[in-house]
Amino acid sequence: MKTIITTVLTGVILLAGWAQAAPAFKPFQAYTRPAVSLNGEWKIIVDPYENGYYNYRYQPFDQMEQPSRNAYFMDAKAKHGGDLIEYSFDDADSLTVPGDWNTQKEKLYYYEGSIWYRKLFNAPKIEEGQRSFIYFGAANYRTDVYLNGEKLGQHIGGFTPFHFEVTGKLKPQNNSLVVKVDNERHKDGVPTLNTDWWNYGGITRSVRLIVTPKVFVRDYKVELENHETGEISAYALVDGAGAGQEVRLTLPQLGIDETAKTDVDGVARFQTQTVGTQFWSPQSPRMYQLTLRTGSDRLDDEVGLRTIETRGKQILLNGKPIFLRGISLHEEYAVDGGGRVTSAEEARHQLQWASDLGVNFVRLAHYPHNEHIVRLADQLGIMLWSEIPVYWTINWESEATYQNAQAQLEEMINRDKNRASIIVWSLANETPVSEARNRFISRLAAHARELDDSRLLSAALEKHYSEEDPELAIVEDPLAELMDIVSFNQYIGWYDGRHEKAARVRWRIPYDKPVFVSEFGAGAKQGLQGDANTLWTEAYQAELYRKTLAMLEKIDGFAGTSPWILTDFRSPRRPLPGIQDEFNRKGLMSETGTPKAAFQVLKDYYRQKAQEPRALENPSESQ
Ligand code: GCU
Repeated sequence: MKTIITTVLTGVILLAGWAQAAPAFKPFQAYTRPAVSLNGEWKIIVDPYENGYYNYRYQPFDQMEQPSRNAYFMDAKAKHGGDLIEYSFDDADSLTVPGDWNTQKEKLYYYEGSIWYRKLFNAPKIEEGQRSFIYFGAANYRTDVYLNGEKLGQHIGGFTPFHFEVTGKLKPQNNSLVVKVDNERHKDGVPTLNTDWWNYGGITRSVRLIVTPKVFVRDYKVELENHETGEISAYALVDGAGAGQEVRLTLPQLGIDETAKTDVDGVARFQTQTVGTQFWSPQSPRMYQLTLRTGSDRLDDEVGLRTIETRGKQILLNGKPIFLRGISLHEEYAVDGGGRVTSAEEARHQLQWASDLGVNFVRLAHYPHNEHIVRLADQLGIMLWSEIPVYWTINWESEATYQNAQAQLEEMINRDKNRASIIVWSLANETPVSEARNRFISRLAAHARELDDSRLLSAALEKHYSEEDPELAIVEDPLAELMDIVSFNQYIGWYDGRHEKAARVRWRIPYDKPVFVSEFGAGAKQGLQGDANTLWTEAYQAELYRKTLAMLEKIDGFAGTSPWILTDFRSPRRPLPGIQDEFNRKGLMSETGTPKAAFQVLKDYYRQKAQEPRALENPSESQ
């Protein structure tokens, strides 16, 4: 049985020059909590020299006893004609939050550096004893936050939520919230300098002001322990009370109504059983209302209940073998020239396109996506792979880099551990094998299992060829031993020969584990007609899909794939004029959602796979 280990996360700040490790933020289940939205127009100051952060001797203003009023976070205004203030938010330009800055203003398209954001807001009515928090869905990459001139803290990482308690710090009117976002890439960063996606900067997800009672449910986890017995375990982490605080858990549609008391860590644990639970699955994504109450607090959510595990070379959902009919996806909605996904509506469009393919699985590459798409996948019955951006050539030797990666892992798992749709936590993508890399990712794997042992662990590995036989492809990597499914990316027919090579290659994958092909694909310019041997034509991409799928079908233990990628996406690594124009063209659709010929090839294949006995996910009822 799975053990529930709660971890009340404490921050670890290792100061190593710039590469400060990210503090691991305490969990905070905020999505369903009522909130005051701070989204909309924010005033901005573009600050490539960080003139608003350092004085002319390059000393950080926010580490001074009395920061100069020329520090931008002071949001100062000249008081009289002799008062020298060399900036003004009131008279500045603005950006919309949430949203990347690159696609909001032509002059910011390539910008990498710091931009200051300022929001003035009035505090909501706050009762005596209540507590208040400012919650950020995400901001890329390093974020420093100040309220009314006081530093609240810093977050590092571009794709996970963070928050600051502001109890007692709010004024009734005109609170000045100043946020510096710096999207500069760093060798010691996570990700590192080199990625195949656009480095969108900014406050890319929502900002919300949340008021809670003094004692409130900060976090919880609910899990179907066993699909045969219907056993359910859960815990609630209560903030503001010590041991002995009563917590009530109800799932009314399942007739669950339990109370438990918190222990010294503020954790209340529940163990119960249900009969007649309709398990969550792609064919039947049954969701159940859940409520946690403690004192005057109430936290509502909706959860799906399912188990996911492997047995030999099979992936089992609720004890039944499934085949993952997937597609990979970046968090980009470039219709009308947009960038990062900014709304549930855009996320819905992405999943609609994926559903048109006939998928039951989406690989959210290469970083945690927005919470909208994860919750939509719950509702639609689409299984997900969620990943931290430990991508390519990370600095494996740096402890601060490890702490940063671990903090992002914790923040990803904390946010989404109750989402039935997520069945895979991925720790890395295409990382070169080395002792240091094995140590780094082994530590992450152990930590991930500590935080959540109810999901499958994986990472996209790479293939190599046998020295004796140039057409024997091998997937053999020390990391595979740590993973539940052996995933790898391969580009036979694109970076590795042409598509006819796929008919000749055989595979050796020496693990008694399910095999998942996390990427394959080819570039094609949507609308470019030509024969199937001409690169960049739709016909070439379609033929590569046909040949590759035939090759993968021969792999023993082939349990699914998420071809690269649903739609074309921006990348500074793809300049080819007239073809790429700074887009990676491996999409099955153009960046505006126009399908290419290969879209139909994959759709036909998935329709056939969905008819196979193994692939039929029958919604199973608990006995
Ligand atoms: C790699 C990588 C992707 C990249 C793709 C490509 O497999 O994982 O992030 O975009 O190849 O080269 O198109």
